[in-house]
Amino acid sequence: MGTKSQVFCQVDRTMRIGVTNLKSGCGKSTFAVNLACELADISVTAIDRWQGNRRVVLVDADANGTAMRYWSGGRLPVSAEYMPLDGSANVRHWMDRVREMAVDDVVVDAPSHLDVVTKAIMLVSDLIIVPVSAGDPASASPTIEMVKEVRASRSDGGPRCLLVPARLEGAADGRNGFATTLREFGETVGPGIRQSSAFADAFQAGQWIGEFAPNGDAHKDIKALAENVRSLGLAVAATENDKTTARRPGGGNNTMEPDLNCTILIVDDDANLLTLVSGLLAKSYNVLTACNGAVALRQSRDFKGEIRLLLSDFQMPGMSGIELATAMTLDRPGIKVLLMSGFTEGMLVLNEGWHFLPKPFVASQLRALVAGLLYPDKISRFVK
Ligand SMILES: Nc1ncnc2c1ncn2[C@@H]1O[C@H](COP(=O)(O)OP(=O)(O)O)[C@@H](O)[C@H]1O
Ligand SMILES: [Mg+2]
Repeated sequence: MGTKSQVFCQVDRTMRIGVTNLKSGCGKSTFAVNLACELADISVTAIDRWQGNRRVVLVDADANGTAMRYWSGGRLPVSAEYMPLDGSANVRHWMDRVREMAVDDVVVDAPSHLDVVTKAIMLVSDLIIVPVSAGDPASASPTIEMVKEVRASRSDGGPRCLLVPARLEGAADGRNGFATTLREFGETVGPGIRQSSAFADAFQAGQWIGEFAPNGDAHKDIKALAENVRSLGLAVAATENDKTTARRPGGGNNTMEPDLNCTILIVDDDANLLTLVSGLLAKSYNVLTACNGAVALRQSRDFKGEIRLLLSDFQMPGMSGIELATAMTLDRPGIKVLLMSGFTEGMLVLNEGWHFLPKPFVASQLRALVAGLLYPDKISRFVK
């Protein structure tokens, strides 16, 4: 697989993240506090451990004040605001306050009931994280339903939703099974958080997990979650850039609807990169994704319509990008192929009509290349 490079793109906006679930005890407050601290990105060289590289506000929207109690010990590298909201309070005012927070990240800890507060959180958030206790996937349903309802009412199609398997116990294969079940909801599934007494012990000590047990399993899980959240944030920012310039590759009009007649299949074994790249392209095209060659082939064979483009990673465990492209071209002779890789050594031998994109690339480069391949006679002058 080699080293995977990240896609570079600038983010200059506040990322608002809500941690919600109807079910209590699934780890909302634990996630919100530790994720906020991890996102603050404390430099190892910082003299003052309360000083992160990014400014993060932790909003406690739960009247039980768990996150606030955590924070009041004074050891968390974030600011915090106690902003519970009951039915009688002014929701609009609450949403305005959250929207006005001009920092790098805002993380909102939600109460364990779905009502006006949760809805308000979903209305102001770019990303909703739903911790789902292991073995209890059904408990996520009402929250996911509410996310969908809110999406239908928002002009930007947000918020994104990340389902996170929580309090995982036992062997890794059992844990993967739970993630697979969660995928059936059709939302992105993040890396899981294992059951660990370190979370409660850190809370007792008034510390976040990265201070209490740096690089222990619990901290590693939070780091992986933060990594996933950051790449989703990049995707949100990228799709927003698309909107502000009001263009669509090849579309010929200024609507922001994806071109559902133009399907592309994106394949990468790096889940973060897959999420990021599909996020970059989903506003313009109908996007299918797969995490390896075998899954991609199955997707392709199950998909009844035309697939215009295969955008695949080069090196993947099992079937390589070249092998996948060869097999798919046999099934679908008209398909365009774009392979992306950090591969730098040796000669690349590509079939005629196949294209190559070296990693790392910037978002605009990817979009321009894809638009150029799909609409060769219409390359927009706005796509740089
Ligand atoms: N991954 C985990 N492993 C072990 N204990 C956890 C984990 N996540 C949460 N807990 C514990 O479970 C209890 C409830 O978690 P909390 O984050 O307050 O849930 P919620 O906010 O969803 O009600 C707390 O005592 C917390 O320390
Ligand atoms: Mg809580």
